[in-house]
Amino acid sequence: MSEKNSALQAAKAELQALLSGTSLKSSADEMEKYGSDETEDLFFAPDLVVLPRTTEEVSEIMKISKRYGLPVTPRGAGTGLSGGALPVQGGIVLSLERMNQILEIDENNLVAVVQPGVVTETFQTQVEAVGLFYPPDPASRGSCMLGGNVAECSGGPRAVKYGVTKDYILGVEAVLPNGDIIRHGGKLFKNVTGYNLTQLLVGSEGTLAIVTEIIIRLIPLPKFRQTLLIPFDTLDGAAKTVAAIFKQGLIPSACEFMEKDAIRASEKHLGLTLPYGNAEALLLVEVDGNRTDVLEEQRDQICEVAMNEGARDVVLADTSEKQKEVWRVRRATGEAVKKLSIYKEEDTVVPRFALPELVRGVKEIAKRHGIVTICYGHAGDGNIHVNILKMEMSDSAWNQSLPSAIEEIFRLTVALGGTLSGEHGIGYSQKRYMPIAFKPQELTLMKQVKKAFDPDGLLNPGKVFPD
Ligand code: LAC
Ligand code: ZN
Repeated sequence: MSEKNSALQAAKAELQALLSGTSLKSSADEMEKYGSDETEDLFFAPDLVVLPRTTEEVSEIMKISKRYGLPVTPRGAGTGLSGGALPVQGGIVLSLERMNQILEIDENNLVAVVQPGVVTETFQTQVEAVGLFYPPDPASRGSCMLGGNVAECSGGPRAVKYGVTKDYILGVEAVLPNGDIIRHGGKLFKNVTGYNLTQLLVGSEGTLAIVTEIIIRLIPLPKFRQTLLIPFDTLDGAAKTVAAIFKQGLIPSACEFMEKDAIRASEKHLGLTLPYGNAEALLLVEVDGNRTDVLEEQRDQICEVAMNEGARDVVLADTSEKQKEVWRVRRATGEAVKKLSIYKEEDTVVPRFALPELVRGVKEIAKRHGIVTICYGHAGDGNIHVNILKMEMSDSAWNQSLPSAIEEIFRLTVALGGTLSGEHGIGYSQKRYMPIAFKPQELTLMKQVKKAFDPDGLLNPGKVFPD
């Protein structure tokens, strides 16, 4: 038996003694299921999957992994888009899906305490039932989990007004790679006591520690919203309108962008049609608040700005059914576009005002390399998902064009004051581009942080840093 195999068998025996029957999996079917996420067609089989129910079990699993030198890759629902949950070096996948309790909704402090395996939308529904609001709303919120959202610092459409996951995380309990259990933060809106370990863990993609409890800030639920669909004849017109809306001092609660092929793909995928679905680009703009007169005034101002910037029309989704339909089309875009072809997705983000230049630049780069791109995303955040599609391209042309096209897109993004990922993370699929965004000294500092948490390099190895 090889050294790795005997370590694995010994670890398995210890894990069997620790965990109840169904919490340890090793069948080929299960390894298949836990070997991929939503990132392209990437697959890496784990050797074992564990599904702990308590923090203590997580801690013991980490001690066993350390003892036998086995990598551990934490995982939520596997909806990530940068391969963060992929066990790229095999070993153990540690799924947090069974730690799925909402431990407390504290209406006095406007705070909740949850386990990492709670599905984001389930949590949102529960807090909304008591008039509270947890805004971060990644497109996958119906299935993704709060622990994964913390790991990737997920965003979503509402980030434009309400911020992203990090803006709601007040504290965590976490297990370090050596099995130590730490707590940091609390039900506190102010806390400058020492380094901010909570925020260091948010967005660290499960490479520093495994978050086992999360303290979340809530806000009051806004009562009303108005949803507008604004068609344009040019991408540029749509992109410029976004900047103009903010320049008017308006902060919409969503400001989303879809180009024609994205709308088409999503409509086809769902069997739905949107008004002006044939426009070159659509903006989906929403405002929310507690006074209908204020919302109506904001809506009218947005209409005026859009028409001045050359919108074809402004359509009000005036019933909750119509609003739902518009959002279904937008939320399904990612899934629909992926179905069209082999693809690679880039999660570009630039300062909002640079959005028109980014969109123009991406299209110019794509044209020059003869590749197809479909862009959509969170225009109000300057966060555009650039999907590069292989379509009918030959393998050799694709393999030749893709790396240089991606590099040019990222160099443009960085030159515009932006960076590689707004909300999907670096994980496995984007790590090779990190030197475009960071100097060697900056990457070294990050590696030193990783080493301080994980000296043996066993927690989610092969992520974030270029090989
Ligand atoms: C979206 C996901 C892909 O915005 O981030 O649809
Ligand atoms: Zn997105």
